[in-house]
Amino acid sequence: MATYDIRTFGDPVLRQRAADIEDVDEALVRLAEDMIETMYDAPGVGLAAPQIGVERRMFVYDVGDGPGVVLNPRIVESDGEWSYDEGCLSIPGLSWELVRPKRVRLAGVDLDGNELDVDADELLARCFQHEIDHLDGVLVVERLDEAQRKEAMRVLRQRALDAPPPRGGPAGRVLSARSPS
Ligand code: NI
Repeated sequence: MATYDIRTFGDPVLRQRAADIEDVDEALVRLAEDMIETMYDAPGVGLAAPQIGVERRMFVYDVGDGPGVVLNPRIVESDGEWSYDEGCLSIPGLSWELVRPKRVRLAGVDLDGNELDVDADELLARCFQHEIDHLDGVLVVERLDEAQRKEAMRVLRQRALDAPPPRGGPAGRVLSARSPS
C-alpha cells in the first residue's frame, strides 16, 4: 500500500469531469486501497480519485463505520436540508458552513461489480455529495454564497502569494517523500 499526494486548489485536474469506469481490474483495486490509506493518512472522511490526479469516477469514504468504495456513483434521491461545517482535503485548513440536502440515496457499483443502493443521512450524505462534486470537477467553494465565496477567494489568493516555489524548496521535498513508491 502507498499514499498519494493530494492535489490542491489550483490544480486543473480538480476541474475536470472524471470518466466512467468500464471494468474493474487488479490495478483499480490497488488504487482504491491506496486511496483509503491516503484518506486515513490525511486524515479525511472521503477522497475522490481526481484528488490524486486520476480522472475516473471513483471515491472512497469512512465516516466512522469502516471504509467503502463506490464506482460510477450517482444520487438518485435527495431531500431535507442540513447545515454542516464542510472542508476539503484539496483546500486544506479551510471550511465553510454550508447547507445541502440532509438525506440522499446513492446508486453505484462496488469493486466486486455489485450494484449499490445506499440510504445516507447527515455526515454520510454530505460526504457522498461532496465526493460526487469532485467527480464532476466541482469544488466546495462553488457551493458557497456570494459573501463566503469572496472571502474564500481572498484567502486562497493570499495563500498562493505566500506559498514557497512549488519545486526545490523544503516543502517540495516533504511532499515528494509521500509519493507512491
Ligand atoms: Ni474535497
